[in-house]
Amino acid sequence: MANVADIKKELEKVIYPGFTKSIVEFGFLKNVEVNGDAVSILVEITSSVQEVEHEIRTNIKKVLENIGVTNLDLQVKKPEAPKQTSNSVSGKNIAPQIKNFVMVSSGKGGVGKSTTTVNLAVAAAMQGKRVGILDADIYGPNIPRMFGLQGKEVEVIGNKAKPFHAYGVDVMSMGSLMEEGQALIWRGAMIMKAIQQLLRDILWEELDILFIDMPPGTGDAQLTLAQSVPVTCGVNVTTPQHVALDDSRRSLDMFKKLHIPVGGIVENMSGFICPTCNTESDIFGMGTCEALAKEYGTTVLGNLPIEPAIREGGDNGKPIVYFHPESISAKRYMKAAETLIEFIDNVSDKAENASIQPTTPPGVSACSTAK
Ligand SMILES: Nc1ncnc2c1ncn2[C@@H]1O[C@H](COP(=O)(O)OP(=O)(O)O)[C@@H](O)[C@H]1O
Ligand SMILES: [Mg+2]
Ligand SMILES: [Zn+2]
Repeated sequence: MANVADIKKELEKVIYPGFTKSIVEFGFLKNVEVNGDAVSILVEITSSVQEVEHEIRTNIKKVLENIGVTNLDLQVKKPEAPKQTSNSVSGKNIAPQIKNFVMVSSGKGGVGKSTTTVNLAVAAAMQGKRVGILDADIYGPNIPRMFGLQGKEVEVIGNKAKPFHAYGVDVMSMGSLMEEGQALIWRGAMIMKAIQQLLRDILWEELDILFIDMPPGTGDAQLTLAQSVPVTCGVNVTTPQHVALDDSRRSLDMFKKLHIPVGGIVENMSGFICPTCNTESDIFGMGTCEALAKEYGTTVLGNLPIEPAIREGGDNGKPIVYFHPESISAKRYMKAAETLIEFIDNVSDKAENASIQPTTPPGVSACSTAK
């Protein structure tokens, strides 16, 4: 017959959905009682999401059946589901004047995440949306250069920083707030603090969409962002080689883990448009993201070729979508932004971050404990 200690030991194997720690480590196991062969368990969780409870119930039953417990009275207490009317009340939002947050991410650096963010944002502004960009890529904040804003002084009003404004977009970058070329070693808690400050201590106006250029990868910054504001959707930027797609998968899995709907994938450096004869040829491959998108129930927002004009636009602070609207690439960015806006309009009210609010002490991220 199993005793309380045996049962607790088994319950240490039940991982809290979406995280790497068990319900015991999180302190969600509130009571275990054994009466003959009858076992009663009380678990109290912080998420109101039905699937979370379901997964926990299933896994508890499974591990206890393994040690012969079949007469189980399992009670799972959870908070009431938040009533959602708009973004600003669905869970935590430390920047409530912003309607939608789009997390732009990539599995690794150099795939064109910032270039894509810039052109999508400018395209959305050209389509009449009030748009901002938050350059949260603390390791390589190069949005200022892409807007021709590098080296510009930030205007501080009171104790808040005013975003720059260029090509219809409000812009603030970690790069404008720290010394140029400053090599900072960012640690978990610092990253979390920086991300929150970028949302809270910047004078963001009322915006329809804030595009956030995230550091590459799937770490603390992503979790912090998702815990600070209800992220409407994520956009993944990748190049079409299969090596890059593997990294992309991690990034798409992260969206899932953080309950962020996937707004789409941008296949960047997809083919090459020869500036001399305007023909398109295959360099890193083309069209490989289609299958990836299907796998994750999303769509490819656009295939952007390798084009010198895109790179020049980035280097010179003149986004192609704004300065060469007649080009193939500009048209693809416009179409991608249009599709994304449609997606945002459909999911906007559903953005929800209550279920991923911290269950660990402040400053300790539940994700950063991942192996
Ligand atoms: N489609 C493209 N065609 C040509 N150059 C590109 C394209 N996309 C990005 N680049 C260039 O590649 C480099 C890396 O892009 P960037 O957007 O900075 O990547 P990330 O933000 O992912 O690190 C930049 O010099 C940029 O101008
Ligand atoms: Mg970048
Ligand atoms: Zn040619």
